[in-house]
Amino acid sequence: MPVKLPPPGVRWIGGPGGVLKVLDQTELPARVRWRSCRHPRIVFDAIRRLQVRGAPLIGIAAAYGMVLAARGCRTLKQFARAGARLIAARPTAVNLAWAVRRMLALQTLDRRRLLSEALLIHAEDRSACQRIGKHAYFLLKEPVLTHCNAGSLATGGSGTALAGIYEALSRRKKMWVFATETRPLLQGARLTAWELSRAGVDVTLLVDGAAAGLIASGRVRSVVVGADRIAANGDVANKVGTYALALAAKEHGVPFFVAAPLSTFDVATPTGRGIHVEQRDAKEVLTSAGRRTAARGIGAWNPAFDVTPAKFVTAIITEAGVVRAPYGASIQRITGGRSAKAAGRP
Ligand code: MRU
Repeated sequence: MPVKLPPPGVRWIGGPGGVLKVLDQTELPARVRWRSCRHPRIVFDAIRRLQVRGAPLIGIAAAYGMVLAARGCRTLKQFARAGARLIAARPTAVNLAWAVRRMLALQTLDRRRLLSEALLIHAEDRSACQRIGKHAYFLLKEPVLTHCNAGSLATGGSGTALAGIYEALSRRKKMWVFATETRPLLQGARLTAWELSRAGVDVTLLVDGAAAGLIASGRVRSVVVGADRIAANGDVANKVGTYALALAAKEHGVPFFVAAPLSTFDVATPTGRGIHVEQRDAKEVLTSAGRRTAARGIGAWNPAFDVTPAKFVTAIITEAGVVRAPYGASIQRITGGRSAKAAGRP
């Protein structure tokens, strides 16, 4: 049965001289609005503001951004500098650096060639999502708890964490999903709840602080999240709050799954301690819907991600199969030891 997915997060319109359209996720679910990007600076800005977000989708947007960048470059050196600027937009999601380096590895300014690589990156992610969904379908037991948004809106396909839910739907099996609100930017409330409910999934929203209690109550049978970067030893960087879910899941014997494409593995980083966690503007915490909620004079600590040690992860679901502990060896096997950060290809 076909599943109703949200509009694609990015679309390339036209040929090598075309334009990148980005679905502005900061406006969802109230408005479906597209931003046109004709310059890599605009792609940078859209990534920085989280108009386009989710590790795999950021990588895809950056690949198209490199097609735009080639227009303004006369040398490969200039092109590499444009790539470095794009990579700086968000430091934790390794898919961004992976995609830019893959474009640079072509060693060309030929936009036709670059566009076909960007389209390939996009298509590969779509098919990775589909394969992740098939593996996840057999592992996830409902009700499922998820965090942030690792769905269609975060990828080029049906998602990572949510791909198994969509796979179930396509087999006419309904799944009940608990989604955390995901403070401070509410990706769970605004995006996950929206995309799942419009597809016909039963979604129950909870505030982040209620998640441990929900897990303790025995009402969820699996937890599944996405990832922004997975170190060589299986430590997982994902949306802040993920670590707390993993701790609670471990304590209460609930399986804790991470779903991610191979482009999210960074085997050049040995452990999670080496992962740079993006710090965001304190304003995101001190305000709500644009209005100040905390008293004046208060500071805020606002990491976008946290790192969950591998020992709390039951399994990592990839397009190439399911990876389990000991993670060092299984990740080495599944990635062929190649670093998403350093290499061009997965
Ligand atoms: O800050 P965001 O919204 O880009 O964070 C997204 C996440 O943390 C996702 O879980 C992760 O990127 C995986 S998306 C398939």
